Amino acid sequence: MRGVKAIVFDAPGDESVMRLGEVAAPEMSPGGLRIRVVATAVNRADLLQRQGLYPPPPGASPVLGLECAGEVIEVGDGVDGWRVGDRAMALLAGGGYAEEVVVDAGSAMPVPDRIPLEHAAAIPEVFLTVHLNVFMLGALPPDGCALVHGGGSGIGTAAIQLVKAAGGRILVTAGTEEKCQRCLDLGADAAVNYREGDFAAAARELGGGGGVDVVLDSIGAPYLASNLDALAIGGRLVLIGLMGGAKAEISLGAVLARRLQVIGSTLRARPVAEKAEIVADFLTRFGGALAEGGIRPVVDRVLPLAEVGLAHRVVKASEHFGKVLLTI
Ligand SMILES: NC(=O)c1ccc[n+]([C@@H]2O[C@H](COP(=O)([O-])OP(=O)(O)OC[C@H]3O[C@@H](n4cnc5c(N)ncnc54)[C@H](OP(=O)(O)O)[C@@H]3O)[C@@H](O)[C@H]2O)c1
Repeated sequence: MRGVKAIVFDAPGDESVMRLGEVAAPEMSPGGLRIRVVATAVNRADLLQRQGLYPPPPGASPVLGLECAGEVIEVGDGVDGWRVGDRAMALLAGGGYAEEVVVDAGSAMPVPDRIPLEHAAAIPEVFLTVHLNVFMLGALPPDGCALVHGGGSGIGTAAIQLVKAAGGRILVTAGTEEKCQRCLDLGADAAVNYREGDFAAAARELGGGGGVDVVLDSIGAPYLASNLDALAIGGRLVLIGLMGGAKAEISLGAVLARRLQVIGSTLRARPVAEKAEIVADFLTRFGGALAEGGIRPVVDRVLPLAEVGLAHRVVKASEHFGKVLLTI
C-alpha cells in the first residue's frame, strides 16, 4: 500500500492534536482525477471536524480539507477534458490536507493562467458556496440586493466580488471598523460593524426602504429575527451556518405576510452529480470574470502545512481577512 503525507489526528481535540503523518494514497475511481496537492485552505468546518463536531459524510476521506489546488497526475476512466499536467482546483468532501487527493472530475475546475496555483486553493469552497446559495437557491436578481454576514470571511470576500460582478448591490457585516473598511475597498456597497450598528436598518436602506432580496447567514439563531426584518417582500434567507446557535423563536407572521422563504443549505454532503451542476453553473456565469481577473481569491496568508495549528488558531480568532492557505 502506497502512503502519502497528510495531517492526521488520533482523537478529536484542540489544535495540538493535529500532526504530520501518513495515510494510504486515495484510490482512483472511474470519473476521477488524481491531483498532487500544492495548497489547501482552512475552512471553519475543519475546526469543527477536528473537534469531533462535524463528521465527514459517508464515503469521504477522514482527513481534513474541503478544497485544494494542484497538478493533475492521473486521469480516471471516462473523464474528458483533463490531461496529466493540467492545473486544477477542486471542491472536496474531505482529504485536502494531504499530498494527493482523488476527486470526481465534475468537482474540479481549471486554474486560470493569471492565478498562482497555490492561491487557487482559496477559490472552490467559498466561491461555489456563494454561487449556490446567493444565485442558484437565493435567485438574486441581476440588479438585486444582498446582505451577507461576516464580510471579511472567506465566504464574505467571495460574496462581495460575485454580487458586484453580477451587477447587484451588497451590504456586509463585520466585527471591526478595519474589516468594514476592507470590505468597502473590495467593492461592498455598505458595511455595518455588527457590534455597534443595526444591520436590518442598513439592509432596508440599501433596498430603497423595502429590504434586500437575499440574506446569506452563517450566524443562525441570534440573527434570525433581524435577518427576516432585513428582507424585502418575497425575499430569501439562506442559512449556511450556525456560528451563533441553532435555537430561536420568531413570529411566523412576518414570514407569512411578507411571503419570505427560509432555506437551509449545505454543500459538502451533496452527491457528486449535484456538485458538478453547481461547478458548471458557476463556470458558465463567472468563469470569464475569474479568467480575466474581475474576481480573484482573497488570500490573508499562506502557511506551510506543518503550521496547521497556527492556521486553525488564526481562523478560530477571526484574525484573517479572506482565506488562510496551507502549502503542501
Ligand atoms: N453550508 C455550507 O455549505 C457552507 C459552506 C462553506 C461555509 N459555510 C459556513 O459559512 C461560514 C463562514 O465560513 P468561512 O470559512 O468563510 O469562515 P471564516 O473565514 O472563518 O469566517 C467567519 C466570519 O464570521 C465573522 N463573524 C463572527 N461572528 C459574527 C457575527 N456575530 N456577525 C457577523 N459576522 C460574524 C467573523 O469575523 P469578524 O467577527 O471579525 O467580523 C469571520 O469573518 C461558517 O459558518 C461556515 O461553516 C457553510
